[in-house]
Amino acid sequence: MDIRVLRPSDIPHVQLANITNLPENYFCKYYLYHAMSWPQLSYVAVDVSRPTPPHSPPKIVGYVLAKMEEEPLDGVQHGHITSLSVMRTHRRLGLAEKLMRQSQLAMLETFSAHYVSLHVRVSNVAALRLYRDTLGFTNEKTEKAYYADGEDAFSMRMELSGLK
Ligand code: ACO
Repeated sequence: MDIRVLRPSDIPHVQLANITNLPENYFCKYYLYHAMSWPQLSYVAVDVSRPTPPHSPPKIVGYVLAKMEEEPLDGVQHGHITSLSVMRTHRRLGLAEKLMRQSQLAMLETFSAHYVSLHVRVSNVAALRLYRDTLGFTNEKTEKAYYADGEDAFSMRMELSGLK
């Protein structure tokens, strides 16, 4: 498995993975905005285990789409995870953890981010385990009816000073 920076040509495949795995979906231009504005922060996991014919598309099995907060309300420079997902066929292999760690390190090294934030559904047990137990995020607050279907979100954050 290869973890590398998101390229603009990956966007249709990342968009497909996003639509397959999550109800929160975005227009192509929003992915492109991430890739062009903060090219160091978004990563893809590519399955390179089987040879593919020349010029065939990469087999993208996971991604993290991340950005810097442009106008942080607290005035503190920080990153934000817009979306993370891994295809069902490739879960529990440590890919999400690796994608997150790569992005977090780049936030710190490239943009001197103090922390990283994200939102997650209160019912998303797998993601909560990953964020809280594996990566060390803490729950800041609960945002009522954050999602379009009315579900609440946990607003979580992780300090980046301990990385490296
Ligand atoms: N149940 C319980 N704990 C889990 C699960 C699960 N199904 N999946 C991951 N974890 C926890 C475990 O602690 C795991 O460590 P372990 O395997 O040593 O026990 C740890 O997270 C790391 O797991 P990874 O293998 O790195 O996670 P994976 O690559 O499977 O991806 C993810 C996890 C992204 C949550 C995946 O299940 C997924 O794509 N789900 C659907 C999309 C989604 O919910 N995305 C997050 C939305 S929030 C946002 O985008 C900001």
